[in-house]
Amino acid sequence: MSFVGRSVLISGAAMGIGLATAGRFLEHGADVWLADRDERALASACGDLPLARRDRAIVLDVTNEDDWADAASRIATAGGLDVLINNAGRGHFRMLADTSLAEWREIRAVNVDALFLGTRAVLPMLDASGSGAIVNVASIRGMTSGPGSGSYSAAKGAARMFGKAAALEFAALGNGVRVNTVNPGLIDTPLSRAVFNDPAASARRLADIPLGRAGTAEEVADAIVFLASDAAAYITGAEVTIDGGQTAG
Ligand SMILES: NC(=O)c1ccc[n+]([C@@H]2O[C@H](COP(=O)([O-])OP(=O)(O)OC[C@H]3O[C@@H](n4cnc5c(N)ncnc54)[C@H](O)[C@@H]3O)[C@@H](O)[C@H]2O)c1
Repeated sequence: MSFVGRSVLISGAAMGIGLATAGRFLEHGADVWLADRDERALASACGDLPLARRDRAIVLDVTNEDDWADAASRIATAGGLDVLINNAGRGHFRMLADTSLAEWREIRAVNVDALFLGTRAVLPMLDASGSGAIVNVASIRGMTSGPGSGSYSAAKGAARMFGKAAALEFAALGNGVRVNTVNPGLIDTPLSRAVFNDPAASARRLADIPLGRAGTAEEVADAIVFLASDAAAYITGAEVTIDGGQTAG
């Protein structure tokens, strides 16, 4: 699998799944743009990835339309974009009755509105690419929910449908842009660290996973890279679930 000569933008690239995905694309020869709102973590991510270029770091809040416009114009000036990975997202654990409208909107903004903003901002470049691809990172929490997961589940469920809608629109336009979604289960990243820091919560969560362990960020990254690659040229509007079998039963 080669991404030599292709340009890839990854949101939420400073840590976790985004960082692992950046590492994989770099190994496959891509020109990788790392975007994150956490400037310090982004700088340290660029230092951790031997192949990363510091001039490819973009400080961006995925919920901000102007930030996307600035990022798109910077990338266009540098030669264009072939792949967008909409990975940035945030968890939220609170019962619906205790969730404020502001929190609800914040979770929706980062987990689903951002996919729309990012896609729209870079679409002209993906159109021009001829082999454009988008991979969105949703969650198994967008497939099944539970007490305390309402706002996150609603946003991730919408993210899954956004991927299908965009895939069908772009297929109808004939611009060659494919859109697919990954649904991670429990993955060991800074986002899920609270689970692993609590032995009882961790044992409960692991008991639900047929493979008996959490996934790694690299295991999600491998699925993302595959969906963005030419090996997946006939796959669009699809979803890959990476959850150790959790949602199979
Ligand atoms: N870790 C899991 O168990 C798990 C499970 C299912 C889905 N996911 C999804 O995977 C994606 C990545 O999660 P992760 O576990 O790597 O999380 P993480 O918290 O380890 O990393 C997320 C990154 O996104 C960045 N980010 C957050 N909000 C942002 C914003 N508004 N603008 C720009 N950057 C922003 C953070 O600064 C951070 O660098 C998310 O969409 C998450 O919902 C994670």
